[in-house]
Amino acid sequence: MDIIVAEGLSKVYPNEQGLHRVSFSISKGELIGIVGPSGAGKSTLLRLLCGAIFPSQGTLNILGQEMSHLNRQQLRTLRSKIATVYQSFNVIPSLDVARNVFMGRTGKIPHASVVRGAFRLTAKEESEIEGILSTLGIEDKLYERCHELSGGQQQRVAVARAIYSGAELILADEPIASVDPATAGIILDLFQSLNKQGKTVLLSLHQIDSALKYCSRILAFDRGTLAYNGSPHDFIKSEVCNKLMGNFPEREVKSL
Ligand SMILES: Nc1ncnc2c1ncn2[C@@H]1O[C@H](COP(=O)(O)OP(=O)(O)O)[C@@H](O)[C@H]1O
Ligand SMILES: [Mg+2]
Repeated sequence: MDIIVAEGLSKVYPNEQGLHRVSFSISKGELIGIVGPSGAGKSTLLRLLCGAIFPSQGTLNILGQEMSHLNRQQLRTLRSKIATVYQSFNVIPSLDVARNVFMGRTGKIPHASVVRGAFRLTAKEESEIEGILSTLGIEDKLYERCHELSGGQQQRVAVARAIYSGAELILADEPIASVDPATAGIILDLFQSLNKQGKTVLLSLHQIDSALKYCSRILAFDRGTLAYNGSPHDFIKSEVCNKLMGNFPEREVKSL
């Protein structure tokens, strides 16, 4: 089943083309690596996929729904099935970890529960959130405010929020660009285990070696166009990889 179908997708900014006639489809359960140099259009694509911005041209079908046909309420419902993790963490610094994670589900629960959760979590909510935090090794931070945490810990909170949301589709825009290498490994392992649980995951990554290690398919972008769509193994041998990423070391090729 295709979970995302993009056809002739373009995004034009006032002075610039963000994406140019991009077509691809993604099946449920894939772990996709989105790669390409800075300015290639990776963030633009992820913003289109989560409904934060709208295409200038083309069609985008997500979870069986055509984005341009949705009213506000339908768009809100669709967005609640998509979780996004950003390079800059996007947690609320003044709120504690538990509340930040709780917010992952606000699009799915009644407004009164959202308001109540801002003051008091139920024992069930608290234990569920604590359980997720323990898989990330930060269960002791449950009631610490996010601004007291390191960057790597804040990113784990952002991933915990995505897990708690129960979203079927997880989009992450350079999720490891601002964390240390050890935390990067933990975070990528988490995305991999979410994928093994059936979630569809799209990661934009600067680190080509991580994309090759974790992803089942690579979409490579070059100045707004889709320059490669295929297996990681063929990508490293391709001209596109040479052009966009430089020559990939031979020893890495052998280790795949
Ligand atoms: N909000 C925006 N307004 C104007 N131009 C933008 C905006 N966001 C991105 N762009 C432009 O679109 C192109 C693709 O950017 P982006 O999607 O951020 O690429 P990447 O994430 O691969 O670095 C770049 O040329 C960038 O300058
Ligand atoms: Mg970007």
